[in-house]
Amino acid sequence: MNDIAEFIKKYGKPYDPETDHYDVGPFKKNIDDAQKSTGGIYGMHMYWVKQVPQVVKQHIEHYTRPGDIVLDAFAGTGMTGVAAMLAGRHAILGEISPACIHIAKNYTTPIDPHLLKGSWWKLREKVEPEIRPLCKTRCHNCGNTDAEIANIILSDVLRCPRCNAEVLYAGDGRWEQMKRGEKFKKIRCPNCKAEFTKAQADFVRVEPIEIRVDCKACKVKGEAKAKSLDEEDWELYISIEGGPTKVIHEGEDEWSEYKFEPVERFLDDLGTKVYQKMLQHWSVDYIPPKEVPYWYPKDVKFPKGYNTRQPLKRGITYSYQMFSHRNLIALSILWHYIKGIEDEKLRDKMRFAFTGMLFYVSLMRRWVYSNVAGVPLKGTLFIASVIQDVNTLEIFDFKINQVLRGLRELLTFKGNGSVFLQKLSATNLNFENNTIDYAFYDPPYGANINYSELNIVWEAWLNEFTMVKDEIIENKYQGKNRNIYGQMMLAALREVYRVLKPGRWLTMIYSYSDPSMYRIIQNIAHEAGFADEGGLLHINSASKTFAQETSDKSQQRFLVINFKKPKGGRKKVVEKSEDIEYDVIQVTHEFLKKYPGRTRDQIYDEVIKRLFSSVQIEKFDLDEILKNFFRKVGNEWFAPGTLIERRKGDQKQGALWEEPIPEHPEKEVILRLQDFLREYRIVPYSELREFYLRKLKIAIDRDFDDLVSENFIIDKGKVRLPTVEEQLRMQDITVHYTKRILAQFLDGRLNRAPTGPEICEWIHFCYKHELYREGLQLFGVLDESSIPSDAYKRAKKIAEVCRIKKK
Ligand SMILES: C[S@@+](CC[C@H](N)C(=O)[O-])C[C@H]1O[C@@H](n2cnc3c(N)ncnc32)[C@H](O)[C@@H]1O
Ligand SMILES: [Zn+2]
Ligand SMILES: [Zn+2]
Repeated sequence: MNDIAEFIKKYGKPYDPETDHYDVGPFKKNIDDAQKSTGGIYGMHMYWVKQVPQVVKQHIEHYTRPGDIVLDAFAGTGMTGVAAMLAGRHAILGEISPACIHIAKNYTTPIDPHLLKGSWWKLREKVEPEIRPLCKTRCHNCGNTDAEIANIILSDVLRCPRCNAEVLYAGDGRWEQMKRGEKFKKIRCPNCKAEFTKAQADFVRVEPIEIRVDCKACKVKGEAKAKSLDEEDWELYISIEGGPTKVIHEGEDEWSEYKFEPVERFLDDLGTKVYQKMLQHWSVDYIPPKEVPYWYPKDVKFPKGYNTRQPLKRGITYSYQMFSHRNLIALSILWHYIKGIEDEKLRDKMRFAFTGMLFYVSLMRRWVYSNVAGVPLKGTLFIASVIQDVNTLEIFDFKINQVLRGLRELLTFKGNGSVFLQKLSATNLNFENNTIDYAFYDPPYGANINYSELNIVWEAWLNEFTMVKDEIIENKYQGKNRNIYGQMMLAALREVYRVLKPGRWLTMIYSYSDPSMYRIIQNIAHEAGFADEGGLLHINSASKTFAQETSDKSQQRFLVINFKKPKGGRKKVVEKSEDIEYDVIQVTHEFLKKYPGRTRDQIYDEVIKRLFSSVQIEKFDLDEILKNFFRKVGNEWFAPGTLIERRKGDQKQGALWEEPIPEHPEKEVILRLQDFLREYRIVPYSELREFYLRKLKIAIDRDFDDLVSENFIIDKGKVRLPTVEEQLRMQDITVHYTKRILAQFLDGRLNRAPTGPEICEWIHFCYKHELYREGLQLFGVLDESSIPSDAYKRAKKIAEVCRIKKK
């Protein structure tokens, strides 16, 4: 079907206010186990931000009935369409990126996996003879001359900022260090002995340092697969990649021209020897890279942008330069034969596997310690200093198998939903009012991800490009500031409001590190006519890794905002907060009392969730607030006065490979000291320190004395646990807060003028909390005419007491 009106006519149920009885409340479920559902379907094709279809499905099932129409105008890879299909609903998907249209189309038109498998066998027969010679090597383990290169490890060559000598990033034992998992910050120049960081040095080129061998004869495994390049390997490498060059940047501006100039030698002696021999043999003075045999996107220059700036340092200004020459050749061969597949559906699926693989065979594939498959960092064009230049054919085979697995799942669970997919801007929906039963939107989050800059690597091969002017984003290279982003989002929300049937819901996914962005979202949603009745929920993002889970910089969760198109036009207006900082402190405090030991990002999400529907969210500095009012132990935060508890066994289901999360050393120390004090009650300080030094022997980064004073009561040289009463007093956040406000006022840092009665209250407060000096100071600035005379007299009396007590 190629007409949207037809689609709606065929599947839609016209809205009639007389007979419409839709009355569904918000979906009130937090989803913490999204990872569990990231099986075959999710893994078919990567994207920068991606929802889990099984999770979207739960929302669709809550808000709609089978046969209803769901809309997602920010479709990305089309997960909403997949979810709708699985749930037996119909979906309309829109996107501006042709890459997404290509991905979403393939996701929502599953084919028989057997046909694809067969097609791959045939394709393989054609491409293998042309690609294999690029990967030939001799097995160092058994001597088999017909072994294959699994990958080549490439290291940056940097220029010493002091003496200009070329320095191998992974040279000088650093590669061995990296393989042991050790980190280093400085690189030492073997020539002048200067020490410098990577950021201080210019990039010159990459150089191969090691090969990993796949040998069918001896099946060598693990670290034993590694070998240094022998003469033949160097010869093959040079004949494909060309001789060594250096990057020259011309002009002042970082965007001006880059060129590559031949240099005489590699850093590797054998490499240089082979190169010199080849030069003589062919009587040339430079060996150029091997020609690319078929079409590839030669002319697609990166636009100026945030992410496209990242590879500039390496002289990369064209999208094809994101691949080693060897892989570019392999890709051109594959693409050529894929184009020759007659059956359109099979050809499409093959192209789908190709784009799905593309970033994984690019220079963005890092070498990562403890992870054989160091995947690219998502959402960037970052190229690391040590790269795994993998074998395209092998990765494509792997990718095809992933697609096959996904197809099998799709076909097993497929309901009878239909999907209509079109290229459009969410700000301009080309269909009638009151036609849609539910919308699931996952729009770009401000400046978070530069979709069009990243998607261009795919779009170059598809030879179709995003209309950048339509992109909703905050990006200065596109001349779009936050204000313009807000206006475009408003236009998009007005459109979805228009097409939704009254009383229906829009679920919007959002995630942003700057709280004021939520204020913008609140405002424009209300401006568009929506009521936010559902409150905020969260979905734990699916691609969270173990490291992110335990580190403070853990990836944020997605927040889920449920908006309703009200039937009667009645709207809930959200008030301005009187004191946003105080609100944030309150919410954080309640959260940490209930769930001690949360990370900064978990707290941030909770704060946004709790405040979103009740007040207008303004800018606040969560880090400042945490630092001033709460306690940090390792990566976790606790309310003041609470005892630290051991982490409960909240291990996720189905993740058998996960180790139990170890406690942070600092936390472990506190836990042991608590146990010690529980047993011996009141202990001289020196004894506690003795216990720590001699018995615990746990190294911590922090000062032991600070740790003790934050967690225990020190009284006349003795330490004990706080009593319940003391704990409560320590937990009285309002007291902390008032103390801080007072201090700010007295230092002239408070950005508002307190009223007379307020100052009087503070004087009382100071007296009560034995802040006599401050009480007296406050009285000094109290304007007698600003309050009734009896109040003044009372304040004066208290100030008098403060003066006496102060001494
Ligand atoms: C967060 S992603 C969506 C990801 C999707 N939920 C998934 O699971 O794959 C946001 C998408 O909005 C698209 N986009 C940006 N501006 C748009 C516009 N004006 N109209 C439609 N889509 C747009 C971007 O290309 C990007 O793919
Ligand atoms: Zn030097
Ligand atoms: Zn072998």
